[in-house]
Amino acid sequence: MKNIAVLASGRGTNLQAIIENVENGTLHANLACVISDNENAKALERARKHNIKAIYLDPGPKKTWLIPEVEQNYVKTLQDHNVDLVCLAGFMRILKKPLLDAFAGRIINIHPALLPSFPGLNVQKKALDWGVKFSGCTVHFVDDTVDGGPIIVQAAVPVLDDDTPEKLAERILKEEWRIYTEAINLVLSGKYKIDGRRVIKTDDR
Ligand code: GAR
Repeated sequence: MKNIAVLASGRGTNLQAIIENVENGTLHANLACVISDNENAKALERARKHNIKAIYLDPGPKKTWLIPEVEQNYVKTLQDHNVDLVCLAGFMRILKKPLLDAFAGRIINIHPALLPSFPGLNVQKKALDWGVKFSGCTVHFVDDTVDGGPIIVQAAVPVLDDDTPEKLAERILKEEWRIYTEAINLVLSGKYKIDGRRVIKTDDR
């Protein structure tokens, strides 16, 4: 069984879905640890409740990224736990060279919009304000762009006339919980190839 780690900054409902899917056998992985840059993240509490190692790592002086020495500490912690795949689930920092180099092709993220539309933050409101009729979520590989790496799985949801950002976020989240497991299983199986920007499933033969 391969080892995954989840990095989360906040509430952790995606983490919760991952924990439950590991426990019920639909996600074929061992959740080696949960790491947060926020001491008070509900995600850490959720992990502890399920006897999963929950680690707060000091994020250092910057708000939206980690200075190299700090990021190196994240790398070391992941390596100490023999992590094969790093899953960002509401981890609100941009990753830089130390993590991207140490885990090249082995970091994935979930984003609450249909990329490449609406990268960045507050994207449910941006989708509403733009007037799109569908939004959704995307699991993608993380590279040195913001929300720009190759797309692994997406799911679409309708935008309704009486939506608020909160209502839309809730509808998208339900799909996030489902597709993150699907994407993790695919990446861990190794049964895919990356052709340009396209992540293409390969068969077992
Ligand atoms: C999720 O909607 C996730 O897609 C989003 O934050 C939320 C975390 O919720 N991630 C980003 O916006 C990353 N830029 P959760 O803590 O309940 O899983």
